[in-house]
Amino acid sequence: MKIKLDRKYLQYSIFVSLILVISYVLFATVFSFTTKKAQSSLPPVLAASDCLPAFRDGGGPYYQANAPFRENIAPDSTTGEKLYMEGYIYNSTCTNTIAHATLDIWQASEEGTYEDEYYRGQVTTDENGYYKFESVIPLGYGEGTAYRPPHIHFKVHIDGEEVVTSQMFFEDVRGRQGFNDEYIIDLEQNANAWNGTHNIIIPDIKFN
Ligand SMILES: [Fe+2]
Repeated sequence: MKIKLDRKYLQYSIFVSLILVISYVLFATVFSFTTKKAQSSLPPVLAASDCLPAFRDGGGPYYQANAPFRENIAPDSTTGEKLYMEGYIYNSTCTNTIAHATLDIWQASEEGTYEDEYYRGQVTTDENGYYKFESVIPLGYGEGTAYRPPHIHFKVHIDGEEVVTSQMFFEDVRGRQGFNDEYIIDLEQNANAWNGTHNIIIPDIKFN
C-alpha cells in the first residue's frame, strides 16, 4: 500500500514539475516577444512591396563634398517648418540594414535656395542601420517645366565609397508621373514640427 502511495506521489510531482516547466517556457516566450517589441531601434522587416531600391540620379549642381557631420543641418535663424527625419538604410534585398553608413544630405531652404553653409550635412547610421537628422521642410524651386517639387538630395557612402546618389520627396508628388510613391517621405505633423520617416534601400547588389 505504501509503495502505491509513493508512486502516486511521484506521478503527481512529475505532473506538477511539467506544468511549472511549461509555464516558465510560455512566460519566457511571451516576455521575450514583448521585450523585443519595445526595442524601437530594431529595423522593421520590410514587405517586398516596400523594398524598392533608391533610384540613381546625377545629384545636380548644388552638392558640396565634405559637408560637416551634424544632426541639425538648418541654421538657428531658419523660419522654416521643423522637420525631424529618421529611417533605416537597407541592403538591396532589404534582408539587412547597413551599420556605419554615411548619409550625406543637401536640400533647398524654406525659401527654395541652396546655401553653402547650411541645409547640408552628414550623419552616420548606428549599429541597427538607423539614421536621423533635423532640418526644415524645403521649398520647391524653378519655373514652368523646370520646376522642382520640394525634395532632399542624398548620397550614401559605405566604407568611404559612394554607393548611390538619389532624392526623397514630399506628398505633393504623389500620383505625378515619374515619382514613385516609395520615394515619398512618410510625414506626421506634431504641435511644432513634422516627423518624417524614409527608409533608403541601396540599389547596389554588392552590399547584400
Ligand atoms: Fe535640388
